[in-house]
Amino acid sequence: MRFLALLLGVKAASILLLSSLTGTGAVNSSGRWWGIVNVASSANLLTNSKSVQLVLDPSLALLSRRQRRLIRQNPGILHAIVAGLHSAIKECKWQFRNRRWNCPTTHSPTVFGKIVNRGCRETAFVFAITSAGVTHAVARSCSEGAIESCTCDYRRRGPGGPDWHWGGCSDNVDFGKLFSREFVDSSERGRDLRYLINLHNNEAGRMTVSSEMQKECKCHGMSGSCTVRTCWMRLPSFRTVGDFLKDRFDGASRVVYANKGSNRASHHADPRHLEPENPAHKPPSVRDLVYFEKSPNFCSFNGRTGTQGTSGRTCNSSSPALDGCELLCCGRGYRTRTEKVTERCHCTFHWCCHVSCLNCTSTQILHQCL
Ligand SMILES: *[C@@H]1O[C@H](CO)[C@@H](O)[C@H](O)[C@H]1NC(C)=O
Ligand SMILES: *[C@@H]1O[C@H](CO)[C@@H](O)[C@H](O)[C@H]1NC(C)=O
Ligand SMILES: *[C@@H]1O[C@H](CO)[C@@H](O)[C@H](O)[C@H]1NC(C)=O
Repeated sequence: MRFLALLLGVKAASILLLSSLTGTGAVNSSGRWWGIVNVASSANLLTNSKSVQLVLDPSLALLSRRQRRLIRQNPGILHAIVAGLHSAIKECKWQFRNRRWNCPTTHSPTVFGKIVNRGCRETAFVFAITSAGVTHAVARSCSEGAIESCTCDYRRRGPGGPDWHWGGCSDNVDFGKLFSREFVDSSERGRDLRYLINLHNNEAGRMTVSSEMQKECKCHGMSGSCTVRTCWMRLPSFRTVGDFLKDRFDGASRVVYANKGSNRASHHADPRHLEPENPAHKPPSVRDLVYFEKSPNFCSFNGRTGTQGTSGRTCNSSSPALDGCELLCCGRGYRTRTEKVTERCHCTFHWCCHVSCLNCTSTQILHQCL
């Protein structure tokens, strides 16, 4: 990747970025910031220094003026945003590895492809996990001292219980959420159903991060007697966040736009809100994922909708579930081939300190969808 320029002053940088923006002619800004994931190759150039510096990677032109201002005002944060996006993409691929839609990404600025312009469950998951990724990475970077404008969350102080007190460095999830609301949500425009749904799912991602915070403690006292403990709040692992969001994907609510005229909406102060399509269902909570259209079946390649299809995917011939050949290949059948796999085996530990292994070769049977 080539850079337009490096480390210019802020004013010059803004002007340059703006002029490169006018050339893109893009209409949809929804999720456009995901394109900065390509900035990762230049991670070593994103400095944390006091003097405000911007790396003029072309990907940064995908950001709005407001988003670039937020990055300038919070030196060090770009690194966290990009790292959060990377974790989100990795987690999305892992959670969906056995499904027809397996969270494919491209190197183009749209990253997740056309699925983001739809309103199905998969779209909901992409918005929620990426918003959660930014929240999580920013909250952690604050407590690691990598962002100049935030620190650990020190607001919890004093006694917490009979044998412990608050102390130490809590991950700053409130800063993470605030920043994500400003930065991530500002990509969304409009007043329509899609807009409300994207914002709802962004918030669901953030709330999942903060509601899974755990208390963590350290013992003090004579030789580990643990008479006194100091405790702080720690972020959940991102796998935990992914697991919760995947559960909410499975239980996502299909919603409709409730407007002023509708009777069902009469008790709401805000006329613009979401309600379940089926009035018998309970309204989605703040942590539930919402969608408004059925998912495509993701079976075959379709350039118009941007689905890749499952041809060539590896399936499990003995599984009755979604990763089984019947469902994954959509009934088209599969071919079987054998592959030689070499693995390290019979490893022994030698004092001290190395491990030696033998190479074992085995034959694996692979099934691939036609
Ligand atoms: C923009 O979004 C609309 C849906 O709101 C979609 O139909 C259209 O294809 C999108 N355009 C681009 C260039 O992605
Ligand atoms: C295939 O599916 C079976 C049944 O669900 C499971 O026991 C097995 O571990 C799966 N194999 C792989 C390689 O995932
Ligand atoms: C195992 O394979 C690796 C790479 O193919 C090779 O470097 C190594 O020497 C092999 N080890 C033995 C014990 O044959």
